[in-house]
Amino acid sequence: MNLLVTGGAGYIGSFMTKSLLDLGHNVTVIDNLKRGKRSAVDDRATFKEIDLNDDLSEIFIDSEFDSILHFAGLISVEESTKDPELYFKNNIEGSRNLFETAIKNNVRNFIFSSTAAVYGNPTQIPIPEDHDKKPTSPYGESKLKTERNLIEIRKNDPLVSFAVLRYFNACGASLNGEMGESHIPETHIIPLAIKAIMEGSEFKIFGDDYDTPDGTCLRDYIHVLDLVDAHLLALNKIIEIPGEYCFNVGTGNGISNLEVVEMVKKVSGKDLKLSNFPRRPGDADRLIADPSKIQSELNFIPKYSDLETIINSAWKWHNK
Ligand SMILES: NC(=O)c1ccc[n+]([C@@H]2O[C@H](COP(=O)([O-])OP(=O)(O)OC[C@H]3O[C@@H](n4cnc5c(N)ncnc54)[C@H](O)[C@@H]3O)[C@@H](O)[C@H]2O)c1
Repeated sequence: MNLLVTGGAGYIGSFMTKSLLDLGHNVTVIDNLKRGKRSAVDDRATFKEIDLNDDLSEIFIDSEFDSILHFAGLISVEESTKDPELYFKNNIEGSRNLFETAIKNNVRNFIFSSTAAVYGNPTQIPIPEDHDKKPTSPYGESKLKTERNLIEIRKNDPLVSFAVLRYFNACGASLNGEMGESHIPETHIIPLAIKAIMEGSEFKIFGDDYDTPDGTCLRDYIHVLDLVDAHLLALNKIIEIPGEYCFNVGTGNGISNLEVVEMVKKVSGKDLKLSNFPRRPGDADRLIADPSKIQSELNFIPKYSDLETIINSAWKWHNK
């Protein structure tokens, strides 16, 4: 297939690009490189530096894409609370521009990277896809609005076929440590804990009085290689049986911040000094996926999402 990957210079998009190329597909990557790195894009892909809000028609001149995997977006909850307009323009308007330009050019298959942040503070654990959506940040709102825009777009054009994938916590690196997680700015717990161990600095725990067994937040960690598999399954689905789909992508297991810290200590063989900070506004006690829909409808079985494999791969990558 001919595939367009947006945000392919970022963490998850660069893994997706490599996997699609390994499977023999032709891949074009677009990215504005504001939060991604040109060096993360596999040399076998065609790369164009462009912003989602630019005139995107040139992307479609030479290629007839079978599908678009849309990863590009700003991803920091904290940053979004400081500058909501930036997130609305980038994530909502940028996505709308992408979908509209694609449709004008006869491309109607989309996989969209959404997030567990659309649920806000959940009232039901594990969280099913039909749980209430009450995002507590502009980031979550921007993703929910884009999901809803896709539904509207398909109402007006039933040939559109799409899957929304709501990721829980993406993490980990390639098993040989050659590719891994790096964000600008880094806000994710595993790279931050590894960095703290490598630099001998203190690691901040935000809140130790949550309603969880050890008092720290519980999150559902999904290895990036499993996440890529979920996209491949979703891609087949939207092509074989066109329609609109929405899946949580997680494991259904809750892992606490302290469990992450303990595993980083075990894998590295080093100690990590902790310092306790107050809770961050908007952090839910538990964000754990109900993954039964993706398991039963797409036969999705995570292979690499146990905590030891996740941290081992991340540790290898950070050491390279
Ligand atoms: N990392 C996670 O745990 C996680 C969880 C849930 C959802 N997601 C979603 O997955 C997607 C990928 O996340 P990631 O962790 O790889 O983030 P990332 O920041 O590493 O990658 C995003 C990429 O998109 C590019 N980009 C952003 N805005 C753009 C624009 N307007 N035009 C062109 N390129 C633009 C950035 O330069 C970057 O390379 C995002 O949409 C994010 O919201 C990620």
